[in-house]
Amino acid sequence: MKKRIFSGAQPTGELHIGNYLGALKNWVALQDEYASFYCIVNLHAITLPQDPKVLRQKTLDLARIYLAAGVDPEKCTIFIQSDVPEHAELTWVLSCLTRMGELERMTQFKDKGKGNERAGVGLFTYPVLMAADILLYQTDLVPIGQDQKQHLELTRDLAERFNRDFGDTFKIPEPFIPPVGAKIMSLQDPAKKMSKSDENLNGSIFLLDDADTITKKIKRAVTDSGTDINFDETRPAIKNLLTIYQLLSGKTADECVAHFAGSGYGDFKGQLAETVVEFLRPFQVRIKEYDDASLDAILKRGAEKARSIASETLQDVYKKTGIK
Ligand code: TYM
Repeated sequence: MKKRIFSGAQPTGELHIGNYLGALKNWVALQDEYASFYCIVNLHAITLPQDPKVLRQKTLDLARIYLAAGVDPEKCTIFIQSDVPEHAELTWVLSCLTRMGELERMTQFKDKGKGNERAGVGLFTYPVLMAADILLYQTDLVPIGQDQKQHLELTRDLAERFNRDFGDTFKIPEPFIPPVGAKIMSLQDPAKKMSKSDENLNGSIFLLDDADTITKKIKRAVTDSGTDINFDETRPAIKNLLTIYQLLSGKTADECVAHFAGSGYGDFKGQLAETVVEFLRPFQVRIKEYDDASLDAILKRGAEKARSIASETLQDVYKKTGIK
């Protein structure tokens, strides 16, 4: 039997090139080798306030993005998290096993909610829902960007704790964090990751940005002092731009450095913009290919398949914990 992958993204904001390079690109690369489950995590989305109409639309838009990025519904299971109620049910059981201190240590919570009396409890317990997502499918591998690593460590700890207390139940998942591209930084501030929630829209290249916008954003991207174009850690802005170029051009790091030897920043940015635009062009055509009916069919089929596996795991958990 093929090993399993589970991963997901939130239908909030616009997906950017960081989401693609850190996660989706690897989902596609791994889909032949693994039985893959790719989820649109709409329950995670409401940990921050959302406009209901927009959320509903963005949930379907994100499914289109998965498909346009190359996730193949003939090979993978694509589904919406809320269509499989077992995710919320297992979350409750796992949250009874999770320690307050563990969640307080989550850096994403520290950034978004710590110290704010009005922060939602969902924001705090968000990583437990993520653990439930992964553990329901007896997942072997979880392709994610660097920012999700700590959540995966918690997932592993919870699985181990449950197995120890109630007997072997969950597979312990491994992260798949790509060696290059796991943390694409903002074009406006190379100390910050590129983020859907960044107010400065010039910091991110969105997958649906048009050619003009992409070119402008790259022209405006901050650079470092000096003139060399290389992967030097002390020049994080250029390193970040060159990393994007490397991953989209398919060249090796050495080839990239050799390619731009002697070039100025202007020339480099021009070529980078062209590479990004050319890369996104077919993606932006493909995204229009899926009408509502075919999308619905894919998601319905995905939810049924996902549910058949998730319910088996949940029944086992309920039996072992004395709920059933
Ligand atoms: P989300 O929606 O914030 O991001 C989706 C994926 O994109 C990666 N990513 C990045 N990679 C490189 N550079 C960046 N600047 C960058 N920004 C984001 C993320 O690491 C992620 O892999 N909690 C998750 C969604 C989730 C999930 C799961 C993932 C829920 N359940 C189970 C895996 C398994 C999240 O909010 O991702």
